[in-house]
Amino acid sequence: MRSKAIITSALPYANGEIHLGHIASTYLPADVTTRFLKLKGVEAYYICASDDFGTPILLQSEKEGKTPSEYVTHWNKRDYDDFTAAGIDFDFFYKTSSSENIQFVQDVFKKLDAAGHIYQKEIIQFYCNNDKKFLPDRYVKGICPYCKAADQYSDLCESCGRVPEEIFDPRCSICGVTPTKEKTTHYFFKLKNFADSLSKWLDENENLQKDVKKYVQNWIKTGLIDWDITRDIVWGVPIPLDAAKGKVFYGWFDNHLAYISTAIKFLKDKGIDGKEFWNSADIYHFIGKDIVYHHYLFLPAMRLGINSEYKLPDYIPTRGHLTLQGKKISKSRNWYIGLKQFLEYYPADYLRYYLVAINPYSQDDLNFDWNEFTNRINSELIGNVGNFVNRALGFTKKAFDGIIPETETYDDKDTEAENRIKNLSTEIGALMEQNHLDRALKKIMEFSSFFNQYFQHKEPWKKGPGTATCVFLSVNAACSMAIAIFPFLPESSQKIWTQLGFAGKVNENKWDFISNFLVKPGHLLGEISPLFVKVEEEEIEKYKKQLGPE
Ligand code: 2FM
Ligand code: ZN
Repeated sequence: MRSKAIITSALPYANGEIHLGHIASTYLPADVTTRFLKLKGVEAYYICASDDFGTPILLQSEKEGKTPSEYVTHWNKRDYDDFTAAGIDFDFFYKTSSSENIQFVQDVFKKLDAAGHIYQKEIIQFYCNNDKKFLPDRYVKGICPYCKAADQYSDLCESCGRVPEEIFDPRCSICGVTPTKEKTTHYFFKLKNFADSLSKWLDENENLQKDVKKYVQNWIKTGLIDWDITRDIVWGVPIPLDAAKGKVFYGWFDNHLAYISTAIKFLKDKGIDGKEFWNSADIYHFIGKDIVYHHYLFLPAMRLGINSEYKLPDYIPTRGHLTLQGKKISKSRNWYIGLKQFLEYYPADYLRYYLVAINPYSQDDLNFDWNEFTNRINSELIGNVGNFVNRALGFTKKAFDGIIPETETYDDKDTEAENRIKNLSTEIGALMEQNHLDRALKKIMEFSSFFNQYFQHKEPWKKGPGTATCVFLSVNAACSMAIAIFPFLPESSQKIWTQLGFAGKVNENKWDFISNFLVKPGHLLGEISPLFVKVEEEEIEKYKKQLGPE
């Protein structure tokens, strides 16, 4: 672990509201990791931006009668607000259409061109005679030539994750007409040039997930295809060549460069040299598995193409997709839950708890199920954590006027409890560093459950020998939990911290303080109240009915 880190998560298209599917695979794991790194004392920054360019956005803004710029400004703000309400705490949220990014993208293109990685070629492009326009990407739908899945966009097959060279049975996605083919000049990035260096980078980077590396290596073996980076549309980063007037870059050429340009802008405003910071930091790009191709091939190849002036990522944590009640999320079929909507029902921490708990560090899909959500919140978050904290602090308040007593001699159970606290920061820390956020959270739950049993076993309410020790250790366990859950459940963590009678912010602590017995004898607790409110089954039945129709 380096002392600096830049964390990014896939830039959300400025094209509609954020839903639970986005949060689960990308933004939440990145947020939890950043909060953890900061507690570890790493100078970590979580950088994100709205992904403003591209054909779908142009298409949609046209449909809504807005300029693309008005359209993306709206979604940039709305997305940022929704993220913030969910506790996704970006250090900086910007936009790919920023002047800084446009400039940066054009510079990178010129460098790639000068290094011989760009060529131009006349190509045949789909053209809709009905709509009178070229039809790149999403403007065309058809059959994936690799896996034969029907109804796939021409720029990405959502079924096999590959980028088709040419889609079968093409149709204009605006009017459904079979398009004609017309000539146009496009610029290509020589991805083929990078097969060996990409393969070497994959082999050497121990931090990348093994299973993802394996299939990316396979793609390289079966042959990379040079990449068309031009679009004949009006909305995008202009190609900085006189011969390319009216043409813009493909959105996937410019968007990931905004990871860098946005970080540099943010760091510059803080008086920090962005390039130097970038190159001496751990670089994390959190993504969902649908954009592996772009992040394991295009993105690193482009960085290699400019001589790794900005270093390649150290981590690309890749997670699976969220299904909802066992079915694929689909906005058009109303089979989704908007983030804003969810947060009108329940606190952000409920969502954060559940989505981390069900989300392994793998590409396996995960499922949001209302019943499971209810059970896990009620029995784990409330029945375990909420119950323990309230019991330990409530009892101390009642029996000791909220003042932590001096300890007595320790029996074996007390020593075990003491050791649990001593070991907690290292145990969870190791899992967090390996990106196993779900397992780290589970360890905290096991810790809490141990202390629930410990408290029960010690029966402090009988006020026998060992009561003071039990109170001291239990309150310290609650304190350890307050810090340990901060990356996952920031609001609840702060509540515990305040109830413990501490002023200030819980994240002013260091991660290692989890094991430091911060609550000393003589310390006075704050006001105690229950941390959580139960999820009622009738409520979730109502929410289930809002989905669909099935
Ligand atoms: O797939 C998407 O949602 C894209 N907007 C992600 C872009 S990530 C990038 F910038 F690398
Ligand atoms: Zn058409």
